[in-house]
Amino acid sequence: MSSPTLYISRLLPDPVMRAARRQFQLLNDPRDASPSWDTVKSGLRDADAAICTLTDRVDAALLAEATRLKILANYAVGYNNIDLAAATARGIVVTNTPDVLTDSTADLTWALLLAVARRVAEGDAYVRSGDWSGWAPTQMLGTDVTDKTLGIVGMGRIGQAVAQRATGFNMRIRYTSRTATALEGLPSQWEPRALPDLLQEADFVSLHVPLNSATHHLIGGRQLALMKPTAFLINTSRGPVIEEAALVDALLQRRLAGAGLDVFEQEPAFHPSLRELRQVVLLPHLGSATLATRVRMGMICLDNITAVFAGKPAPNQVSPA
Ligand code: DGY
Repeated sequence: MSSPTLYISRLLPDPVMRAARRQFQLLNDPRDASPSWDTVKSGLRDADAAICTLTDRVDAALLAEATRLKILANYAVGYNNIDLAAATARGIVVTNTPDVLTDSTADLTWALLLAVARRVAEGDAYVRSGDWSGWAPTQMLGTDVTDKTLGIVGMGRIGQAVAQRATGFNMRIRYTSRTATALEGLPSQWEPRALPDLLQEADFVSLHVPLNSATHHLIGGRQLALMKPTAFLINTSRGPVIEEAALVDALLQRRLAGAGLDVFEQEPAFHPSLRELRQVVLLPHLGSATLATRVRMGMICLDNITAVFAGKPAPNQVSPA
């Protein structure tokens, strides 16, 4: 029996591409660039299985033509790019890549947190500019991280990994949970809070919620107004969780000390004022971007596809809420 046909929307790391070519009939020669919606549509139309990425909008119109498709493996833990209800209604299994990117995303969250607190990107630019004339007692003074309060919005796998790393900095942990009550199995000194209370209390607020209708613009003008003017906001989740224009206003008016952003509302575009603000650090959606993690994410996609064609449950199937 011939192996199932596979469409891969973007070029994945070499070990994943080699394994994909070994195990399946690859329908296309994926490139590094983001394919158009039409290209993804024709890819999915002809495939038994597909690997898509978070930059592919897989909507109901596209899925309507994917009549052969049995499984859509999303190369991400988040799957807001897929109309999950439409896929499920068509009997298409949708999977994601949880766990394997938890540590790399938590590490990057900390890279941003430390970078904004200690002005790392600004300092690097200063030295490179050639203007630095030497050490000075008042030069580029930042904010301490040790002994501060870290507020984690969304205490799932990544939120917990970010909190664990904070123990080395002796930080107080406050977190939101859906019920605002303590989550089982967490250290008792990590305290749950309702979102408004957490925003008022935290020196650093880090976002780790999935993007859906309940979390779209979860942090807007009203929420930012609750934060301390000395506080920093970090986002490695999804851009639309923050109302970007409201964040820019708060930063311009110094109602917030700074922000570390790995994700944006309309990626790859971002609010033009962010470019001018020295108190923000901007990254190009690098949360899971280590070679080992990106290889593991690809292998999980292939494992899920293999399971489905072996008649087994896909280990990482996601279902509509
Ligand atoms: C995810 O998996 O959702 C990440 O954003 C990918 O980098």
